[in-house]
Amino acid sequence: MALGQKSGPALAAYGLGKRFGDRVACEDVSFEIGYGEVFGFLGPNGAGKTTTVRTLSTLIAPTSGSATVAGIPLTPENHTEIRQRISVMPESPGLYPRLTVAENLECFAGLYALANPRQRVDRVLAAVDLADRADDPCGKLSKGLRQRVSLARALLNEDADVVFLDEPTSGLDPLASREVHDLIDGLRQRGVTVFLTTHRLDEAERLCDRVALLNTRLRAVGRPDELRQLMFASTLTVRTLAPLAEPGPLFGGLPALESWRVDADGTYQLSVSDVNIAAPAVTRALAASGADVLSIGESQHSLEDVYVQLIGDDERADE
Ligand SMILES: Nc1ncnc2c1ncn2[C@@H]1O[C@H](COP(=O)(O)OP(=O)(O)O)[C@@H](O)[C@H]1O
Ligand SMILES: [Mg+2]
Repeated sequence: MALGQKSGPALAAYGLGKRFGDRVACEDVSFEIGYGEVFGFLGPNGAGKTTTVRTLSTLIAPTSGSATVAGIPLTPENHTEIRQRISVMPESPGLYPRLTVAENLECFAGLYALANPRQRVDRVLAAVDLADRADDPCGKLSKGLRQRVSLARALLNEDADVVFLDEPTSGLDPLASREVHDLIDGLRQRGVTVFLTTHRLDEAERLCDRVALLNTRLRAVGRPDELRQLMFASTLTVRTLAPLAEPGPLFGGLPALESWRVDADGTYQLSVSDVNIAAPAVTRALAASGADVLSIGESQHSLEDVYVQLIGDDERADE
């Protein structure tokens, strides 16, 4: 198979691990990410997110396991080839404070040996809406604007198949975060594979097709809704105008309904194993009993519930 062929995963790790001396930064990390997928890598401080990004982006060598990046096996001989297929927005922007925004980007375009650097710089400045700040020294920009320059730098390599974003909204206010989110949506629309590390669950839930929860080891991988289902039975909440005359017999024999209770405010909480079976059956039974139903709804657990369940009980990772 030719190097970098676009079949198979865009990014894959198999038992990947990294130690620094005695300290295990991450271990036994395995996943496969498809082309065009936005993959969230979630975990608390010290979980090993940045170490994983630095390993996959060829900056440090793994101490165990293997990986493929943009379809290319992660080995020292392939580092140059891999670097041409990826771009990285690192945890700290690392811009030259005395150089202007445009000079910084031109300097990096030169370092990456990109063709037509001037046009690329103009395009990425437009993409992150910074054209009017091109001549400002980076040292004088707000944190949010510096973050945008850093993102612009990651966008310079227009041929990148995989973009790594390491906590791109860390320390940004909600408006600046939203702008970064819009840019990530833009990458998705262009079919770019995005590996996004974050400790913000709302961000992962809003942006990512799938997420992995990491705490040195991977705790779970899946779509946010899959993880919710994996962790929690679904709950149907039923509100009626008046208390049901005989809730026990009514709910008793229904398929996929595991248990029920009535809350102090009179709502019925039904724990169900399969909403698609239980909800229609509950609706029919309520209607047949003549109950005045106000609403039937499925209660949603958030990704945060899953996270707290999986990571909350772990020993806190070392920072
Ligand atoms: N260069 C390094 N030398 C020694 N320990 C490191 C180094 N880089 C990271 N670590 C340790 O590895 C662990 C994971 O760090 P990191 O990958 O930065 O986590 P995260 O990005 O999830 O906050 C931490 O305990 C950190 O102190
Ligand atoms: Mg980090």
